[in-house]
Amino acid sequence: MDNRQIGIFDSGVGGLTVTAAIAKLLPHEHLVYLGDTARLPYGTKSAETVSRYAVQATHALMRFDVKLIVVACNTASAVALPVLTAALSPVPVIGVVEPGARAAIDATRNGRIAVIATEGTVRGGAYVRAIHALKADAKVEQKACPLFVALAEEGWTEGDVPESAARRYLSDMFAQQNAPDTLVLGCTHFPLLAKAIAKAAGGGVTLVDSAETTAREVARLLDEHGLQRKGPAERALFLATDAAERFARVGSQFLGNAIAPDQVELIDLAP
Ligand code: DGL
Repeated sequence: MDNRQIGIFDSGVGGLTVTAAIAKLLPHEHLVYLGDTARLPYGTKSAETVSRYAVQATHALMRFDVKLIVVACNTASAVALPVLTAALSPVPVIGVVEPGARAAIDATRNGRIAVIATEGTVRGGAYVRAIHALKADAKVEQKACPLFVALAEEGWTEGDVPESAARRYLSDMFAQQNAPDTLVLGCTHFPLLAKAIAKAAGGGVTLVDSAETTAREVARLLDEHGLQRKGPAERALFLATDAAERFARVGSQFLGNAIAPDQVELIDLAP
C-alpha cells in the first residue's frame, strides 16, 4: 500500500485524455497533473528541446512526492523516455508509446498498422521501433497530422472542418491496396477527433487509443510493486505553467469532466 500521488505530465491539456482513463480504472488513486502550457506545443520542437522541457517539468512533479510518473504526452514519450527514466530513477516512469504499440499489435489482423501523430513523434520513429520490437514483420506507415492538435484545442471535433482535414491527411493511406487495418492515435489530442478520423479511414479500420492501455499498464505496475492507494478518493490537483483559466476551460473537454478553476495552480518551472 502506498498513498502517495501518481504524477501525470503532458505538454498541455491533451494528457487529460490519459488522466481520464487512469481515473476511471483506478478511482482511489490520487492524481497530480502537470501541463506545460507555457511551452506548448512540444510536437513541433526538436528532440533536444522536448527532452529538456520534459526533465524540468517532471522534476517539478517529483516535488509532490509521487510514487510513479506517467508521461502522457506522446511526443515526450517518443523522444525523451530513456532520459526521463534515468533522471527520475528510482521512481518508475511509464510512457504512452509502448502501451499504444502493444494495443495495435493486439488489434491488427493483416499486420499493417498506421500511426498518426505530431511531427516530432513521427520524426523520432518511436512507434515504428516499439511496434517492430513486438512484431518484426509488421508493416508500419506514419503520418504527421499537426492540424488535429489545433482543431481539438479549438473544440472543433465534429462536422465538416475536422472531417475534411481527416480526409486530406488520411484518404491516400487508406485508399491503397493492402491498406492498414489498424490506426494508432499517437497523440493526446486525437481521441477527441476519433469520429472524423474513423470516417476518413473507412469501415473495418480499428482505432487504437493508448489512453486505456496506458491506464492498464499503470494498474499492472502498482499491483506488481504493491503501490496501490488504500485511502478514500481525493480530488485531483492540476498544475499548469500558464493560463490556468484556459487550462480549466479547454481541459474540461479533454477530461470529460468539469475542472474547477480553483483546482488549477500555476507553477513556475524556472530552476
Ligand atoms: N501532447 C502532445 C502529444 O501527444 C500534443 C500537443 C503538443 O504538440 O504539445 O504529442
